[in-house]
Amino acid sequence: MLKAKLGEYELDGVFTNGSGANDDSLDKLLQIADSRAGFITTKTTTFLPRPGNPGPRFYILGNNAINAMGLPNPGYKEMARIVSELKTRTKKPVFVSMSGFNLEESGELAKTLSPAADVLEVNLSCPNLMGKSQIIYNPEQTEAVLKEIKKNTNKKIAVKAAPFLDPGMQNEFCEIAKKVGVDFIVAINTVGNCMYIDADREKIMLKPKWGGLGGEALKMIGWGNVRRYYEFFKGSVPIIGCGGIVSGKDAFAYALAGANAFASATTLYKEGVGCFGRMEDELEAELKKHNYASLADAVGKAKEF
Ligand SMILES: Cc1cc2nc3c(=O)[nH]c(=O)nc-3n(C[C@H](O)[C@H](O)[C@H](O)COP(=O)(O)O)c2cc1C
Repeated sequence: MLKAKLGEYELDGVFTNGSGANDDSLDKLLQIADSRAGFITTKTTTFLPRPGNPGPRFYILGNNAINAMGLPNPGYKEMARIVSELKTRTKKPVFVSMSGFNLEESGELAKTLSPAADVLEVNLSCPNLMGKSQIIYNPEQTEAVLKEIKKNTNKKIAVKAAPFLDPGMQNEFCEIAKKVGVDFIVAINTVGNCMYIDADREKIMLKPKWGGLGGEALKMIGWGNVRRYYEFFKGSVPIIGCGGIVSGKDAFAYALAGANAFASATTLYKEGVGCFGRMEDELEAELKKHNYASLADAVGKAKEF
């Protein structure tokens, strides 16, 4: 079993589920708890229970996935109940993902979810809420939401970050995260505004038309974003690398970029919770092959030309 140090946490196992992958009920979360995942992330919860967008809304296509789920979830009160039950059944840290639709909701979610959560994971990056922009791309809103959440919790906070395709925008977010005191960054969420067209059927395959792309196609964006966080924070903010991790070798590359631990959604959907053990064994083999005594030794070690 590989160990990881993630802030104050000594993890037995270096993977978690990317939020949204089979994690919206106690049963599904317990499956993750009983797997070789080192920590657990919940489905993003909102103030009101949501059915999500109408379907079809999710396809797995080879090693990629496109979804326009629209945050279906049982609502924050039920999620608080699920997480407090989960915490009686596992010692693994639980990152509770949340998304308020205004400041008041964000404060209320933080207050109610905090007692059971180890970490509040603030999802500022869902691309599938029809008519709503991703908060993280708006610096003023990002700062206001994070400040409101900090006011209403005594727990550590993580930000689930969208893919930044512009380095200036990513730096602007980093400055806010530093100012507000973000404790972890999970990078990256799906790439929004994507579309799946079946040319044979001449058809847009998602009912909501646009969706977020996950899976292998994301990994170079993920590596690039993680490296930029690593260089900005110089290791002071632990990073969970997410996006396109299909193998332990992909996770190894995330570690070399600067990630301390890893999350996987599409691969978990495809393979089930056994993916965590498989990828961890592969990562361990990579570390050995490259003469690293531990995962921590490899973090940030990607060489430059
Ligand atoms: C069906 C599906 C639902 C998702 N729901 C959420 C969610 O509720 N909250 C969130 O932060 N990310 C959500 N994501 C994004 C994943 O957590 C992850 O960031 C993204 O898929 C990239 O990782 P991957 O390449 O391993 O899939 C979802 C992804 C998928 C495929």
